[in-house]
Amino acid sequence: MLNFELKNPVKILFGKGEIAKIASEIPKNEKVLLLYGGGSIKKNGIYNQVETALKNHTWIEFGGIPANPEYDILLEALNVIKSEKITYLLAVGGGSVIDGTKFLSSAALYEGEEPWDILANGIRTEVGMPFGTVLTLPATGSEMNSGAVVSRKSIGEKLGMGGPGLFPQFSVLDPTVVATIPKRQLANGVTDAFTHVMEQYMTYPVGADLQDRIAESIMVSLIETAPKIIANPSDYTTAANFMWCCTMALNGLIQKGVPTDWAIHAIGHELTAQYGIDHARTLAVIAPSHYRYNIETKKEKLAQYAQRVWNITEGTMEQKAEAAIKKSEEFFQSMEIGTRLSDYTSQFEGTAKRIKTSLINRGWVALGEHKKVTPDDVEKIVEMSY
Ligand code: NZQ
Ligand code: ZN
Repeated sequence: MLNFELKNPVKILFGKGEIAKIASEIPKNEKVLLLYGGGSIKKNGIYNQVETALKNHTWIEFGGIPANPEYDILLEALNVIKSEKITYLLAVGGGSVIDGTKFLSSAALYEGEEPWDILANGIRTEVGMPFGTVLTLPATGSEMNSGAVVSRKSIGEKLGMGGPGLFPQFSVLDPTVVATIPKRQLANGVTDAFTHVMEQYMTYPVGADLQDRIAESIMVSLIETAPKIIANPSDYTTAANFMWCCTMALNGLIQKGVPTDWAIHAIGHELTAQYGIDHARTLAVIAPSHYRYNIETKKEKLAQYAQRVWNITEGTMEQKAEAAIKKSEEFFQSMEIGTRLSDYTSQFEGTAKRIKTSLINRGWVALGEHKKVTPDDVEKIVEMSY
């Protein structure tokens, strides 16, 4: 097992009716900016619950943060924070609203001229404006981690940021919110969370037995939960399991003491930046090719995954590894998630080269757990996914 440090200060308020508790989590003397997305919270009753909870607070709102939170729109929110002297942020939404809020938490206290530098120059946020979240879409784990991803359409970029100042002070996880999530987003949520586990697991063995077993449990639970949640998102028990799996998949726990990969996400973000494909779907496109291309360095964990998650017991290590990749593809497809780039665009020629160039320009020339996946390798992986 590798050395590690672990500190996760996020207070989780899990369960039906917990939204009311934000009243006591946010100090009364704060001036709050409530941030949300395209308006789903105004149709499904979540906004009303937040409004009731905040009846004794001073607050205003900023809506319209789009999926893949857009820098230019976030700058408008930043102006509101400054002109209205906001002191506390409350994100009510999925990964995009929470990530947008994390950017604002950092940008609100940033002293440089151009907030984009936080992303472009990888500036860590040691201290941000305090914020809490009400999660409406289980998927990213953003509600219990300190990372965020922000898009800027005008220059075709989608970049990550993070730092210890970007953990939410609290996050409300009420599984009843799952009832109104469209099928497409439920499938995205399962796929994103499943791939988060894979990125932290499909590397090489380091004798971290507990981390491996927790990761495998999350994957098995997601495989069992997926058909049930898509068929009946109103079922509370199913929704609760789905929600907690997604949070546990990326709250930092299973990545401690083990090597991690994250190449699938790095390549996937490029596909979202170029084509606007949903984040989770880019992962389903890249993961199979990435694992097939790197099978030599990943076959031990792939075979362990085959055996423990998919009950594949026959064959050599390589055969088990390939069978598990196939099972993963079929799992994504069972949720109507396409696993080839051509499922999303007919204009895919040249994509691999463009991604390669973009990675080189950014100096990202060594991806993966061994830092040996080069831009040339990425080009081949993307070509394999056409
Ligand atoms: O905008 P509204 O109207 O709220 O609608 C949203 C949006 O259209 C809708 N939705 C959310 N909750 C709902 C609901 N509709 C009905 N009922 C509800 N209860 O779902 C749509 C998608 O929302 P979004 O927040 O974009 O989805 P997701 O949670 O998948 O977030 C994706 C973003 O998170 C980033 C992705 O790159 C992408 O930008 N990620 C963040 C990570 C992190 N911070 O740790 C890690 C991930 O790997 C990922 O990169
Ligand atoms: Zn993801």
